[in-house]
Amino acid sequence: MAEDFNVTLNEAQYYTPDTECKKNSWLGDYEKRYQEFLADPDAYWEAIARELDWFSEWNQVKTWNYPHAEWFCGAATNITYNCLDRHVFNQRRNKVALMWRGEDEGEERVFTYKQLYQAVNRFANGLKKLGVGKGDRVCIYMPVVPEQIIAMLACARIGAVHTVVFGGFGVNALHQRITGVGAKVVITADIGVRRGKAITLKNIVEEAVVNAPSVERIVILRRDDPKIELHSEMEIDYHDLIKGASSECEPEAMDAEDILFILYTSGTTGSPKGIVHTCGGYMVGAYYTAKYIFDIKDNDVYWCTADPGWITGHTYGVYGPLLTGATSLITETTPDYPHPGIWWSLIEEYGITVFYTAPTAIRMFMRTGEEWPNRYDLSSLRVLGSVGEPLNPEAFEWYYRVIGKERCPIVDTWWQTETGMHMITTPIGEPMRPGFAGRPIPGVIADVVDQGGNSVPPGQGGLLVIREPWPSMMRTVYGDEERYARYWNTIPGCYTTADLAVKGDDGYIMVIGRTDDLIIVAGHNIGTAEVESALVSHASVAEAAVIGIPDPLKGNLIKAFVILIDGKEPSEKLKNELVYHVRMTLGPIAIPSSIEFVDSLPKTRSGKIMRRVLKAIELGMDPGDISTLED
Ligand code: WTA
Repeated sequence: MAEDFNVTLNEAQYYTPDTECKKNSWLGDYEKRYQEFLADPDAYWEAIARELDWFSEWNQVKTWNYPHAEWFCGAATNITYNCLDRHVFNQRRNKVALMWRGEDEGEERVFTYKQLYQAVNRFANGLKKLGVGKGDRVCIYMPVVPEQIIAMLACARIGAVHTVVFGGFGVNALHQRITGVGAKVVITADIGVRRGKAITLKNIVEEAVVNAPSVERIVILRRDDPKIELHSEMEIDYHDLIKGASSECEPEAMDAEDILFILYTSGTTGSPKGIVHTCGGYMVGAYYTAKYIFDIKDNDVYWCTADPGWITGHTYGVYGPLLTGATSLITETTPDYPHPGIWWSLIEEYGITVFYTAPTAIRMFMRTGEEWPNRYDLSSLRVLGSVGEPLNPEAFEWYYRVIGKERCPIVDTWWQTETGMHMITTPIGEPMRPGFAGRPIPGVIADVVDQGGNSVPPGQGGLLVIREPWPSMMRTVYGDEERYARYWNTIPGCYTTADLAVKGDDGYIMVIGRTDDLIIVAGHNIGTAEVESALVSHASVAEAAVIGIPDPLKGNLIKAFVILIDGKEPSEKLKNELVYHVRMTLGPIAIPSSIEFVDSLPKTRSGKIMRRVLKAIELGMDPGDISTLED
């Protein structure tokens, strides 16, 4: 596979932004910083960690018992102390921490650091009243509203482990995550708002907690008017819970290695994986990259468009900006509602300086035309970020020219749920190479290798790996050590990312795509296995196989091949029914854009579906080695 994969690299073309920004940046000179890191990796990270507050110091920066690393061993801290108290009891008490915008014109809520601190403490005390304590798991299934972030921070305040589930997931996906972590409490809202419509969340929760015996209480933020009825045995209103609660709550002293959160990500096979991140190392990684890669300064106004239901929202929507003491915007908006200029209007209105979004959104804006962004004043922008999938050169050029007006550096950040923080990028002020994310950030050793872990020559495709542990790396897959170990033992001595990549002569890395059965649709990871099992759970379906098909807008689209059970006839109506079924079980993000009814599927003799063959046929390509094919 990776070995036969060759990429022809065009002669390197660089964009060089104004290098002035580098002089004043937190990171400074990339090369110098990188050498500083290589000279003494532990000292490098230790110096970063010292910029934050700890209740007690570590006795060792790191231990590395392959494949397990621990960071800041023996230290105690609380991430909310660093996100809130540190600012409230210093100069940022009345600085705006969070601005929220709803879909309705002008609907806005603003929290200063002090107000956010109080709201978090009140809700933390509310959770304590429900008997939630250190180590308990809490599932947060909410739309993007301030209470979603308050709930995350309140959990962290008292040492409870949060599992945030994206509000666009369906019943099965939610059920799997609630039972996977054994959540004691589920926090939700009656509705989310999308394109002018109310999306009900609470009824999904009601179904998802059936046969989830760990769940004791459900906290509901009621936004709709008139207020929905609650079932008093288990359900409690968000505001009733915090009524009379104190706005002071001592932060729990957490060991650096205690779990901060579990976030699920799609797996290659079977069920999604609960990625475990810890209090100390994750905090240091989130802080370091928000500050040194996005170069957030005190007068910046920052906007990350990701939902906290994804890792990008965790690290760069919530924790990173708060750790740096930034002012940030969160919105419950879609990029093109009520019109394709909405996001640019928000950039103008709030004076956004650092903006972080996904290639899918950029490609959508390219289609709706330059006239939309051109209507607004985007001159406040200083840094543009991208994440989630390769930023293709056309999208890079458009983002750079139309949005950044050829002034703003583009920081294309490669990383994963598992890595917790940015790993590969082009720091501001460095020459940018469209199509290439860039080089490993200081603190990270990345390489492109063959199956044996040997570096491949520049220009030759290979597997993207990370060679040494880093503070914000995942600690395990919750309840599945073996699955965790696979990350480190697939390629000897390396953390395997499951991405294909190619390195240029200049050391810049181009990430090409996944080597496994994950499909990245509009920047969101979807496992073929998850969609297949949702399809097979429909009464008419005997077997299903799912592949990703390249799409100029969303990166990939999902195509499903379905074998019906005997006696069922293919029809358009049945197709619609299957799509609806996937929507209800997994959520709208996972619905196939096309379904084909077939009589058989290509399988190996051991019965494994060969998706690679399906994909080759679909795209009119050579299916390659099919010697293991059954017939
Ligand atoms: C892909 C998202 C190219 C990659 C933070 C990775 C990217 C997967 C980039 C992780 C990028 C993310 N360029 N590909 N800048 N960023 N990816 O866990 O395939 O949702 O392995 O984390 O997204 O997706 P995840």
